[in-house]
Amino acid sequence: MRLDKFVSKSTELTKSEVFQCIKVGEISVNDQIITNEAAQVHENNTITLNGVTLKTRQFRYILMHKPANTICSNIDEIYPSVFNYLDIEKISELHIAGRLDADTTGMILITDNGRWSFSLTAPSSQCPKTYRVKLSKELKTGVAATFEKGVKLQGEQKLTLPATLQQITSTEALLTITEGKFHQVKRMFASVGNRVVSLHREKIGDISLDVGVGQWRYLTDAEVQSFATET
Ligand code: URA
Repeated sequence: MRLDKFVSKSTELTKSEVFQCIKVGEISVNDQIITNEAAQVHENNTITLNGVTLKTRQFRYILMHKPANTICSNIDEIYPSVFNYLDIEKISELHIAGRLDADTTGMILITDNGRWSFSLTAPSSQCPKTYRVKLSKELKTGVAATFEKGVKLQGEQKLTLPATLQQITSTEALLTITEGKFHQVKRMFASVGNRVVSLHREKIGDISLDVGVGQWRYLTDAEVQSFATET
């Protein structure tokens, strides 16, 4: 593997920080300073950053089906934390990439790779998320067009980005948004005079929820890479 890739995988440095520390001679391979970021290295080589040996870190990437009345927090509060459903070690090192409200169900992604979760949740990523929404009132004609144009949410300066609404019944729809503003789906429907009575996230990016309530699985490498801009 390339030296820059190895350093990137084994530290939390950004690509430009990796490039910089190689260029200034902070990286040694088998006791020899290497300043060529494209040099080929092997995991058996002793690779150091300022004298400290680097090991490729195995990050964890988890998809979970969040039940209702649980919270996306590392500790229990009024409701129990979703981490109670994870029977694995070192749970305190994990965090959620894109939280859901306590009453919202569906897909959440959990990881210990901060850079990966940032690439997924940063506004610039515009990662699509699809929600199944049940409403208190019938959907009015024109709401799909309104959401496509964008709506002004209370307290926000800018319109929401174009969102796709697919009506299922008069009071049920799928909504795909590419942002993650606070209570965004509930506020979007409130802005057109309706009220969300149940909310379920079915899909993030290209991945659809495929485990039962309260269950989880590790993401495949391809799924992890499908979100990564800088891992
Ligand atoms: N939008 C909401 O209003 N709530 C959620 O939990 C997720 C998106």
